[in-house]
Formats: sequence, C-alpha cells, structure tokens
Amino acid sequence: MSRPRVFVTRIIPEEGLARVRAACDADVWDGPLPPSYETLVERTRECDGLLSLLTDRVDAALMDACPRLRVISNFAVGFNNIDIAAATERGLPVGNTPGVLTDATADMAFCLLIAAARQLVAAERSIRDGEWRTWEPMGFIGQDLVGATLGILGMGRVGAALAARCHHGFGMRVLYTDPLQNADVERDLGAERVAVERLLAESDFVSLHANLDDATRGMIDAAALAAMKPNAVLVNTARGPLVDQAALLHALRSGEIFAAGLDVTDPEPMAADDPLLAEPRCIVAPHIASATVRTRGAMAEIAADNLLAGLDGRPLRHSVNPEVAPRTR
Ligand code: GLV
Repeated sequence: MSRPRVFVTRIIPEEGLARVRAACDADVWDGPLPPSYETLVERTRECDGLLSLLTDRVDAALMDACPRLRVISNFAVGFNNIDIAAATERGLPVGNTPGVLTDATADMAFCLLIAAARQLVAAERSIRDGEWRTWEPMGFIGQDLVGATLGILGMGRVGAALAARCHHGFGMRVLYTDPLQNADVERDLGAERVAVERLLAESDFVSLHANLDDATRGMIDAAALAAMKPNAVLVNTARGPLVDQAALLHALRSGEIFAAGLDVTDPEPMAADDPLLAEPRCIVAPHIASATVRTRGAMAEIAADNLLAGLDGRPLRHSVNPEVAPRTR
C-alpha cells in the first residue's frame, strides 16, 4: 500500500517531524512565513493528512477541496483556527496538543504578570534610551504581589497552574469563573468560583485562560475594564480576540487599570505602529507562551501521534471532536 500523503505547514521540532517523515510522503512547508490560504488548499488537495498550525485557517471550503483528507492535526492546544463543526460534519477527526504546554504557558502568564506589575519593560527601556539618571524615589513604582487577589477567567489546566504558582508562591487569594466547577483548585488553593462582576471588582490581577469562541470573543470590553480596580493588571496568554484592544488602550491611558501583559493580540502580529505598543504600561510578547525546548518538542510528538493515528484509522491521542470515528482508506 502506498504511503499516506500529508502536508505539514511549517517546520516543527524533530521529535514530531522525523516520525511524520518516516511514516508518510510528507510535503513540509519550509518558508519563514505560513503558507497563504490558497497555497494551503493547493498543497493539501491530494493529501490524506494535514498537520496545521494556529496560523492556518482550516475551514469548510478547504475540507471540501481536499476529499482525501482523513485527519487534521493541529500543532497547538487551541483550535479556533479550525472549523470544528465543519470537520465533525465531514467525519474528520481533529487533534490538538493539550497538557504538555500547561507549565510553560503558566510560566509566561506569571512572567507577564510580574513584569507588568513592576513596569519592568518600560524601566529597562529608560536605561537603553539614556533616560535613567539616578535612583528614583518616585520612579517606576509598581504593584505588590504578596497577598493580592488573582482572578482567573477560565479555570482549565493553564489557569489552575497559574493559580497554584500565585497561591503557593505569593499567598494570593484566587477567584475564578468557568462554566464548570473546578473542585481541585477549590480544595487545593481555596479558590472561589464567583460571578464575573465580583471577580473583576475584587481582583488585583486578572488572567485570561478561556477558549476563544462566540461566547468569549471580546469578553474584556470597555465595561469589563471599567469594572476592574485601578491597580489591576490584565494578563492574556489565551487568544487576542478575547480583549477589545481599543478599550484596553483607553483603560490604560485613563488609568482605569494599571497595566497589561499580552502574549496574544488581534491581529498577530500587531502593526508596529499600534498605539498599544507605545503604552509604557503595556507589555506585548509575540505569542511565545509555549516556546520552550521541552514543550515544543512534546507538542510536536503529540501532533505527529495524532496525525499518524488518524491516518491509521485509530483514535487520536488527543482529539477535539472524539465523537468522530477515525476513517480508514
Ligand atoms: C498556543 O497558543 C496554543 O494554542 O498551543
């Protein structure tokens, strides 16, 4: 039997890529930027499997243009780049890479939290710009962490890992919102599930960990920002469109909140002249929360496993739509 044909939309770590190459006739996009949508469709058209990234739009039209496709494996835990309903309707299993990036992402959320709270980036820039002249009794005064209240919007794996760091390391009280109760964080961290209004009103740090969907898009809007404390720091390591960035700019400029740390923006990349980048209290990172050697290697391994399982007609290691039974040729 001929080897399955797959399109891999970027170079990923060898832990996964080598396995895909060993088992498949693999077309690997090696450009410095993702393929365009048109190229993605063209290169996937004759393929049995697609290993995609969060930068690839995988929609119903693509699925219809690629009739041989039997599996989509996304190299990410998030899957908002894929039309899951369309994939399910067409009997296409979709894989993702949960679990292995929990710690790296929680670490980055904490990194943004403390850096934004202490104005680290603006302070460092003042040295580079030759503006720092002497020790300042009133300069770059930030916010304390110990004993603060942390509000987690979306208490999944990453939210819980950040909450554990903040509770055990800094004695923070933890509030959270989530459609589901999380008994583990309530027991282990004394976390309290509350209404979003209370979380916004009481939290010194608000960190976003929700999936992006129609219900969560723009959840941090002008009203939410106005409801936050003036000392509050907003952290987003989930997806950019959760935040209304124009409203965030206004909230930072008017002092409605103290600072923000964003690993994700809308769009990505943000334009170099985006006014948020000129805001001294806004830290922006280029979506690097999972970017550690071990994490990216583990993500590649799972993405390869998912792809190969789908091609073999076996259940995926991690499926977003497990109700879809894998197909064989
Ligand atoms: C990164 O954002 C991911 O979803 O893995």
